[in-house]
Amino acid sequence: MTATKGLEGIVAATTSVSSIVDGVLTYRGYDIDDLAENATFEEVIYLLWYGKLPSQAELTGLRTELNASAAVPDPVIDIMRHFPERAHSMSVLRTAVSSLALYDPEADDMSKEANLRKAVRLQAQIPTLIAAYARIREGKSPISPKEGASIAENFLYMLNGTEPKPVEAKALDKALVLHADHELNASTFAGRVTVATLSDIYSGVTSAIGALKGPLHGGANEAVMNMLEEIGSAENIDTYVRSKLDRREKLMGFGHRVYKSGDPRAKHLQRMSYELGKLNGNLKWYEMSVKIEGLVTGLKGLKPNVDFYSASVYTTLGIPRDLFTPIFAISRCSGWTAHILEQYENNRIIRPRAEYVGQSDQKYIPVDFR
Ligand code: ACO
Repeated sequence: MTATKGLEGIVAATTSVSSIVDGVLTYRGYDIDDLAENATFEEVIYLLWYGKLPSQAELTGLRTELNASAAVPDPVIDIMRHFPERAHSMSVLRTAVSSLALYDPEADDMSKEANLRKAVRLQAQIPTLIAAYARIREGKSPISPKEGASIAENFLYMLNGTEPKPVEAKALDKALVLHADHELNASTFAGRVTVATLSDIYSGVTSAIGALKGPLHGGANEAVMNMLEEIGSAENIDTYVRSKLDRREKLMGFGHRVYKSGDPRAKHLQRMSYELGKLNGNLKWYEMSVKIEGLVTGLKGLKPNVDFYSASVYTTLGIPRDLFTPIFAISRCSGWTAHILEQYENNRIIRPRAEYVGQSDQKYIPVDFR
């Protein structure tokens, strides 16, 4: 038995939810480029869960269900009021999502119908939790979700207390489409491993949130913005990038386990970063990002991943930096739950082996003689 570090190249599951083949990402057979240009996030949620694009009536039905499920149980809002002010919003989200299960009478109902209803509730309530926490920590009251609004509109409304501009809601909606699913990424794998023990869907999504938090995965978008701010201005880029690479340190937002010639999602986010920056009359972060990309690609051959330009997109939308990864979770909840439902449909516990590299032939010595 020989281990492959990081399971690189290992095919660990079959899925019909999404695929990456020759650098092309598809959700249920639809190219991400097509969906990014044309689909709304709610259409993508339906596509991931049900395997087909919805009719108008099906889409309206899903939107109504999501709207009706968006309010979070009061005790969950209350526990967030007791969290320390310095708590990272991903840690808060992990705990809050876990606690949702305690207030869901169907939490342990493993029927397909109940799991779909719970997927709707998770998808609807994660944005409410994030927006509520962002307000609570500023001493403001959480805002109830608004009827009839899309997930993107509602999130911005609940966060800021004002109606978002259509261009802002559309930009966030597109970012949600782009992040919705990504084959067997680390957080989806964590979610599938958890539910493959026949644990409940809340446990699966909680595990996935824990995995997404790390800076090598979803946490990279926040780390990119930290990097942009640390660099400060365009004239510092050259020195910063070269010294990072000399020290063999990672540049956040670059590289990918699967894509070696570019992440197909990055170009959409780059365009959005430019368009939003231009609209706001501030292209600083976009221009710095482009310069960093040119240098890193030139020096190291590394291409930006989905997280690189999402940092400047979210910043330009006025979203606090530590909410970038939670926004990723709003989107990826659709993919996590689609994979979890798929795992339940054809389950076998996921239990690989490990190659033992420790000591052998040890003999017990009583504690007084050690
Ligand atoms: N900056 C500098 N060098 C890098 C970077 C980077 N961002 N990414 C990879 N490399 C280098 C490695 O140092 C290594 O070089 P070496 O062969 O000379 O030692 C080589 O490229 C291969 O990199 P690995 O880390 O082995 O690649 P792996 O597939 O294990 O990791 C990962 C992929 C985690 C995405 C990595 O590229 C990385 O850490 N990137 C920065 C964090 C990031 O942006 N994560 C978000 C990924 S997208 C997502 O999850 C949503």
